[in-house]
Amino acid sequence: MIALRSEMEIRSIRDACRVAAEVLDKVCAKVAPGVTTYDLDQAAKRYMAELGAESACFNYKVGSRRFPAYTCLSVNEEVVHGIGSMRRVLRPGDIISVDIAVRYKGWIGDTARTVALGPITPEVQKLLDTTREALNAGIAQARLGHRIGDIAHAIQSLVEGRGMSVVREFVGHGVGRTMHEPPQVPNFGKPNTLEKLRPGMCIAIEPMVNLGSPDIEYGDDHWTAITRDRRPSAHFEHTVHITAAGPEILTLPPAPTAKPASNDASPTQPQG
Ligand code: MF3
Ligand code: CO
Ligand code: CO
Repeated sequence: MIALRSEMEIRSIRDACRVAAEVLDKVCAKVAPGVTTYDLDQAAKRYMAELGAESACFNYKVGSRRFPAYTCLSVNEEVVHGIGSMRRVLRPGDIISVDIAVRYKGWIGDTARTVALGPITPEVQKLLDTTREALNAGIAQARLGHRIGDIAHAIQSLVEGRGMSVVREFVGHGVGRTMHEPPQVPNFGKPNTLEKLRPGMCIAIEPMVNLGSPDIEYGDDHWTAITRDRRPSAHFEHTVHITAAGPEILTLPPAPTAKPASNDASPTQPQG
């Protein structure tokens, strides 16, 4: 059963998603050489608390195991579900996927992006661009009259058209009072298949794209997914509300705060 949210529920999910987007922005702003992924995880925990939210990942149960960190931080060949570590020091040329899922007033917001440190190779830049564009291509299909398979197909064809591959083991999902609700939103599939999109659905769309082969394995912590060929991987995610007027992206980054330049001669600007 896929939930169709009331206007009141949408307002709550919108608020949770706004918090997730703000935390993601703040964590990404802290990404720099010399910073550890533990520092980023702890900073995220603090930002969430400051906004009245908590991590939806910490203690998240899969089978009999519980996720031990507040965010998922996945560097280079790590695909998703990386755990912040004091031993993982970021260096120029790294990429890091930052995935933030919060619970705010009982509702979930879920969003991710991959950011780069310093100079990266053109091929890794193309990986980031392709993954972001694949998310946007998926979102563009998130409209009435379409099905989940249309989203999946748009993502897969964009990625494979650029000679890269989509990870099969993890999928997007419905978002509500819990992080993973029906429907599953795969990043590969056929047009006009799977569930029909209806107004009031809230889904997280989240392509994970590998520069090389799509195959993954797990790290020693049994959580971190890693590319088998150890080539880099990227991940972008938005929570999206399906409406009659088209997709509403609930986790857009906050608008930059206006900071007038010192030579701004605007007459409305207070002087002195
Ligand atoms: N935020 C992830 C997602 O996009 C899920 C994290 S699962 C956890 O679905 F176990 F790492 F918490
Ligand atoms: Co996520
Ligand atoms: Co998600």
